[in-house]
Amino acid sequence: QDYNEQYRPQYHFTPAKNWMNDPNGLIFHDGIYHLFYQYNPGGTTWGAMSWGHATSSDLAHWEHQPVALQARGFPDEITEMFFSGTAVADVNNTSGFGIGDKAPLVAMYTSYYPQAQTLPSGKSVEANQQSQSIAYSLDDGFTWTTYDEGNPVLLNPPPEYADQIREFRDPGVFWHAASNKWISVISLAQLHKLLIYTSGDLKEWELVSEFGPENAVGGVWECPSLFPLPVDGNGGSKWVAQVGLNPGGPPGTPGSGTQYFVGDFDGTTFTPDPESLKQTNWLDWGPDFYAALSFSGLPDTERVDIAWMNNWKYGGVIPTDPWRSAMSIPRKLSLKTIDNTVTLVQSPVLDAEAGFTQHWDSVPAGTTKLNLTGKALDTTLTFTKSESTQFGIIVQAMADFREQTRIGYDFTTEQLFVNRTLSGVADFDGSFSGVYSAPLASRNGTVTIRVLTDWSSVEVFGGQGEVSITAQIFPSADAVESYLFSMDGPTSIIDLEAKEVHSVW
Ligand code: FRU
Repeated sequence: QDYNEQYRPQYHFTPAKNWMNDPNGLIFHDGIYHLFYQYNPGGTTWGAMSWGHATSSDLAHWEHQPVALQARGFPDEITEMFFSGTAVADVNNTSGFGIGDKAPLVAMYTSYYPQAQTLPSGKSVEANQQSQSIAYSLDDGFTWTTYDEGNPVLLNPPPEYADQIREFRDPGVFWHAASNKWISVISLAQLHKLLIYTSGDLKEWELVSEFGPENAVGGVWECPSLFPLPVDGNGGSKWVAQVGLNPGGPPGTPGSGTQYFVGDFDGTTFTPDPESLKQTNWLDWGPDFYAALSFSGLPDTERVDIAWMNNWKYGGVIPTDPWRSAMSIPRKLSLKTIDNTVTLVQSPVLDAEAGFTQHWDSVPAGTTKLNLTGKALDTTLTFTKSESTQFGIIVQAMADFREQTRIGYDFTTEQLFVNRTLSGVADFDGSFSGVYSAPLASRNGTVTIRVLTDWSSVEVFGGQGEVSITAQIFPSADAVESYLFSMDGPTSIIDLEAKEVHSVW
């Protein structure tokens, strides 16, 4: 496959063909990054959910692998789908799945059962029930065996939530060394609750606490995860809970989005900082960043997230073929104290060719053409307030501006924004067109933004990465020009660094 079709991402992960949603089971093991993902082996819309699989040694170049967990009964009569979940290396063989000194990898995922049935384990499920199951791999993640004699290991939610058996999903599992236990965070989607379970062997689970509802609850809560992160790189650490919300995403976006909470975790209970509950903390302020998940198997100082770069509102009708959906760029996460608040900061992980830099003492009002064409670019722009109201970059523009994507900063509202109202094809869904904004303080009038463009997306990082805005775009093939824009007056001290990003396929 040449990965050259219209809109085909050149350096973001896409399956060669068919539908993809959430990243699953992200794990770094034996020098290899494994990306599993919600995948329909049978078509370009959601269905027959299975775990697709790809591997990488650098988080940039991916090799497609055979489907890791294929919907049971596919394609004729599906009896079990493999919904979202996570994977861990069971290095001490607590599960007993290991053989000799070969330690297993264990995946914990949601089994979705379309029909009522009695399973090989003797457990019975209702139609459309969601339960939690496990599978293991004895070849370092390449092939998987479901634990049929015991699955599902968590059949039902606790009795007081018995009516939620169809809304109980997406286990986020990790090893908690301090308490010598496995922890699994599972969503009661409709109730906006995370249930926290512990286990010694990944098979028997005990409910120990709940978290939520808190902050944004405009839709269901899905794909929760919990992990520690160093604060200001100085040895202290905090815990971060990230949760998908669908719908009810960031202001001005349709459909799904991702929020996070900063707090503490003692092995049983997640306690958010009061600061973190003052307002919703959006991991990304754009419409296309969902079901974010970080890799297990890396040191806590190297936490890396990947999210589904799409939105449930229109995900099934975006104009791509023969694949549908891309993953976000992998993002390194850290916590930094910014304006007295512990804030999640993201930094994209990618290699780009050495670029060119350009400096202007001042850029006049209007547009200034850049000597920068192309659709796969990594551009960093720093500028300082003078008389303009807005300043930024126009990417993937036609020479007559009929198509353009504006990314900039509004000095009057102190907001970073992405405007995709003229970005190309948008008529597949009435809610696709829009302008998305994130609050971003300048540093004495100086602002830095980093813009990653690919053939059908922009990902924008503001400041030190304390805000990001991710949006898909579907521009024409000849929309390749770039410009600076300055509104209502000039802007000062502009530094541009631009790099071309080569195809990773
Ligand atoms: C989130 C989600 C998950 C579920 C999966 C099914 O995008 O709805 O809650 O496990 O997708 O594909």
